[in-house]
Amino acid sequence: MITEFELMGTAAYLLSNGNMSMLIHIVNGKPLLLHCGSVISAADASAMCLRPNPGWGTTVLYKEGDTSSSLDIIPLIWSEENTGDYRENPVSIGIPADFTFRSGRIIDGLIPIESELPQADGASQSLELTFLSGTITLRIIYSVYETAICCRTVISSSTELVINRLMSSMLDLKGSFDITTLDGAWIREAHTNRIPVSYSRVVNESSTGFSSNRHNPGFLLSRPDATEFSGEVYGFNQIYSGNHYASAQISAQNFTRVMLGISPVSFPRSLNAGESFETPQAVISYSAEGFNGLSCAMHSFVNSHIVPEYWRFMERPVLYNSWEGCLFDFNESKLLSLASKAKKLGCELFVLDDGWFGARNSDTAGLGDYTVNKKKLPGGLEGLSSKLGRLGLKFGLWFEPEAVNPDSELYRAHPDWALHPFEGSDFYSRNELLLDLTRSDVRDYIVENVSSIIDSANVSYVKWDMNRHLPISGPKAHDYILGLYEVQRRIFKPRPSILLENCASGGNRFDLGMLCFGAQIWASDNTDPIERLDIQNGLSYLYPQSCWGSHVSASPHSQTLRTTPLSTDANAAFFGDFGLELELSHLLPVEEKEIKAAVEFYKGHRKTFQFGILSREETEPDAVCWLLSSEEESIAGLFHRLVHSAQGYEWLKLRGFEPSQIYRITSRPQNLRVGRFGGLVKYISPVDINPNGVALRTADRLYPMKDGAEDISCTGAALSAGIPLALKFMGTGYDANLRNQGDFGSNIYVIEKVTDK
Ligand code: DGJ
Repeated sequence: MITEFELMGTAAYLLSNGNMSMLIHIVNGKPLLLHCGSVISAADASAMCLRPNPGWGTTVLYKEGDTSSSLDIIPLIWSEENTGDYRENPVSIGIPADFTFRSGRIIDGLIPIESELPQADGASQSLELTFLSGTITLRIIYSVYETAICCRTVISSSTELVINRLMSSMLDLKGSFDITTLDGAWIREAHTNRIPVSYSRVVNESSTGFSSNRHNPGFLLSRPDATEFSGEVYGFNQIYSGNHYASAQISAQNFTRVMLGISPVSFPRSLNAGESFETPQAVISYSAEGFNGLSCAMHSFVNSHIVPEYWRFMERPVLYNSWEGCLFDFNESKLLSLASKAKKLGCELFVLDDGWFGARNSDTAGLGDYTVNKKKLPGGLEGLSSKLGRLGLKFGLWFEPEAVNPDSELYRAHPDWALHPFEGSDFYSRNELLLDLTRSDVRDYIVENVSSIIDSANVSYVKWDMNRHLPISGPKAHDYILGLYEVQRRIFKPRPSILLENCASGGNRFDLGMLCFGAQIWASDNTDPIERLDIQNGLSYLYPQSCWGSHVSASPHSQTLRTTPLSTDANAAFFGDFGLELELSHLLPVEEKEIKAAVEFYKGHRKTFQFGILSREETEPDAVCWLLSSEEESIAGLFHRLVHSAQGYEWLKLRGFEPSQIYRITSRPQNLRVGRFGGLVKYISPVDINPNGVALRTADRLYPMKDGAEDISCTGAALSAGIPLALKFMGTGYDANLRNQGDFGSNIYVIEKVTDK
């Protein structure tokens, strides 16, 4: 809800939703931010006004004689160079500008973005604040959603103008904060880093052309004492997939200035007279209930206003993906044999990844030529798709439409369609160049090519890959992203039931912009479940788990050489859109059984796994515990990294349950492979068993052991206090009542209310 009222003789605006309020007061034509945080009412506004100050030494006064008017020391939502505010400014247009307030307009719903930029839909109300500086108009537009407020800016000019920098939003928040960013690299995406915001500026940005696996555009500001469960936390993100910028810095007067928007590396942009430029929506959210409270608000916003409407709260299929199992080496009979195995294991969708077209038998050739390779697939995609249909599987297909191998028919026909920033020399990445999506003929080609293939082969899922950084900066980098949005909009808006999973070497473009077109993103090429703990945990601060694909792959894992138990491979993949990505014909009978049981378990609890409210719970050091709660049940996943000898007790401590309600906590039955014990079986076997011999190998293939099953009933109060779990392997031999998992063990616990019959 947005209200306009008079405060001390000038206009004020209060924007509120269930989580937060922002109080903006226009003084001397400048927009002061009197409050941003907990929910307040208009009746609180006069108490929020800053006290007059006698001036701070050498500060520049915006209004002669008014000692309180120095823009350098007051909290604002916008500011410019040359007006006395020497803090970082959100706009730079090469000429002095002094934007002063002209009008405020409240409307129901959204003020639509006019460019190809995506926009969160379903806002209850929007506020447009208009400011003028000479011939230049600045509009700051806020839109209010249930658990977030979005802000964007638009500059237009009746004379020519060069924009060097234009942020989507700026806020001066009261007091000091820590900043948490999601940083990384390929196969190490979204690791959290928390540092104090100080007098030196902290910057979170990307200049690779995309939102990047280095620094996700989303970040959090938290009070220094905030925890997962308590304290004030602000969340920020951008509905944008290109170069981004955000900064935070505390001022001498104890305001933390935060701003976010398109990175200045995607500028300068020249406007002709009469033209305008719009920034993406910045997303702002707040919780006084710690990081978990903030995540809950952001998840709800993404699930309800970002992902394509058709897929909102729509359960996602369990898929099999051919990549890690086959790479480029397959033919139809191999795929159909995998498909029939995948079907028996419970999969619902078969995704054919890279390698199905042209001369694409490695990553050196064929990219761009989406003509099916008839040697691999003699019946074409249609043939494969209908055979999969007869097996009871849906068909999904991989494309990398933005890129081209120079060794391809497409490139030979249209070398000028690729981006060539340097005359005569190109810099390759994975042997590829990117197509110039700023050209309408290139966009038309991609739209027609991809659409016709999708329509011809009954494709119900598309994996849209992109595997390099953008070779250009400047305004064309932003235009490329607009071109990408146009292409995805033209292909997928008319085909809403197609599930689009975006991917960029894994999580190189994991952002709210891409999520507006595809309901999920491949979070990382890293399928090692222990690495996924950090990646999925990091993403969970700002994105709901239904937004990322998560697959069981073969161990040792191709990204780390780490060997993990199959139970943990599955347990980690449960916390996302579950799939299988491994060579199924290599599975042992015990593994087949275990995977089948895991798929069945996931499907039985799919709604909770995909759409349950997520909370990161307290654990012993180095463990991870995720709790998902739906109306029907809660499910906790408890994961460990390296085991230590002579460990003590461990408690399952889960918050948020009704204190006097009785709950039953049962562990997901999971197996322990005999082979894990190697020569240690001598401790329990009456006969000598060779750890490398046939007997142990046979037992390992066929006879899994039971492990650490729990079945506990207790009150919600006891659960919050912490209930002791079965001890871990103690060096005293196998005991089925212990958790004998060794390194990288994990368990899943289902928590249900016990009701009187
Ligand atoms: C990179 C993706 O992230 C992988 O999942 C796979 O699709 C390969 N590309 C295929 O080339």
